[in-house]
Amino acid sequence: MTIKNRKILIIIGGGIAAYKSLDLIRLLKKNNNDVKTILTKSGKEFVTPLSVTTLTKNKTFEDIFDKSTEAEIDHISLSRWADLIIVMPTTANFMTKLAAGKAEDLATTVILASNKNILLVPAMNVRMWIHKATQKNINILEDYGYMFLGPEKGEMACGEYGEGKMSSPRQIFTYLENYFNKRNFMKKKNLKALVTTGPTREYIDPVRYISNESSGKQGREIAEVLNRYGIKTTLISGPSNLVTHSEIKTKKIISAGEMFEEVKKTLPVDIAVCAAAVSDFKPSKINKNKLKKNLKNFNYIKFEKNRDIVEYLGKNNKHRPKIVVGFSAETENINKNSFSKLKDKNCDLIIANNVSKKDVGFNSDYNKVLIIDNNGKIKQLKKNKKSFIAKKIVDVILDKLLIDERNFN
Ligand code: PMT
Repeated sequence: MTIKNRKILIIIGGGIAAYKSLDLIRLLKKNNNDVKTILTKSGKEFVTPLSVTTLTKNKTFEDIFDKSTEAEIDHISLSRWADLIIVMPTTANFMTKLAAGKAEDLATTVILASNKNILLVPAMNVRMWIHKATQKNINILEDYGYMFLGPEKGEMACGEYGEGKMSSPRQIFTYLENYFNKRNFMKKKNLKALVTTGPTREYIDPVRYISNESSGKQGREIAEVLNRYGIKTTLISGPSNLVTHSEIKTKKIISAGEMFEEVKKTLPVDIAVCAAAVSDFKPSKINKNKLKKNLKNFNYIKFEKNRDIVEYLGKNNKHRPKIVVGFSAETENINKNSFSKLKDKNCDLIIANNVSKKDVGFNSDYNKVLIIDNNGKIKQLKKNKKSFIAKKIVDVILDKLLIDERNFN
């Protein structure tokens, strides 16, 4: 199914690939979509406002200080108008501005003021792309929830070969079709999801607690992808500094007990993903005052088990989510131990990661996982950014959920 009747705002950046934006506009218009554009100062070096306006049949916005423009449509309403904002080509310089949260012209101001999903389509020289500064910006922008398409490998305008070529208008159009079709489908289904993430803290006394190294990143990325597909998503997070898209309802908790209570309150949902590193045990009592260092009896702290949240969801007779996804943090016998967890907790899928490695898993931007299905299928995902791993996990979840309705793709 193609896209139509969408409102797309295209920000045309300053690079030789800018001319390709004209082809995308033509494709979108041919399919009855409304397109508005912002031509950046450097974008104007490559395409003219006249050619853009001729194709969009709308005014081409150029400068934030254009008084007639501001009176006609201010930057807030322009960003509210769009169903999706595309920046093409996204240059290294433009990414730096976005990562710094700048609002220095119409394009950056619209983006900063926007509550819409934003697709960045980078194009630059391969060395600029692989430069640490650019890669650092990509991490920041992914953290802020920007979506990326490309760049592709190929010959570039500068004559070099490598990763840096902008995705073609046809590739962008296909991406948009998938994006809107999936979103449409999910919206119609009115799906709801809950994701647990981050560590829990089990207090011993007012200042000491038992916890772990979880940053909450992996669960946060999963919540972002679910939300991007239009699934109403609640993120229940242990202590972390992560920011989430404003559409995601985020509930902050401290202990496993509080996480359990919030999970119960959030039911019923269609999808539950438990990525949190929940403490299995808690001290039986929290000492009212700070324990003294001259404590005589070092066996003073007694422990009891926390309620297993994913098991509660998996075995819930009244409100079992259609898909329950557990995670499994293991340091040995990963397949065997993870499969046992899947069975014991009655999950549909379990995402197993080896947490003995420093470069993946806990508190890293990367992960490397096995997706184990209750039908015995195992899918291995190589080391990759947690945002990428999240997309793959969500695809498997949705395929499993919509197994009879695959034609939406
Ligand atoms: O947060 P990050 O820094 O991004 O790191 C991600 C991660 C490594 C924490 C994540 O990928 C991960 O593996 N999460 C699960 C960690 C864990 O507690 O695994 P487990 O094998 O101990 O628990 C198995 C499952 O039971 C998990 O889904 C866990 O959320 C759940 N559980 C555990 C105990 C409990 N009381 N209730 C639970 O729901």
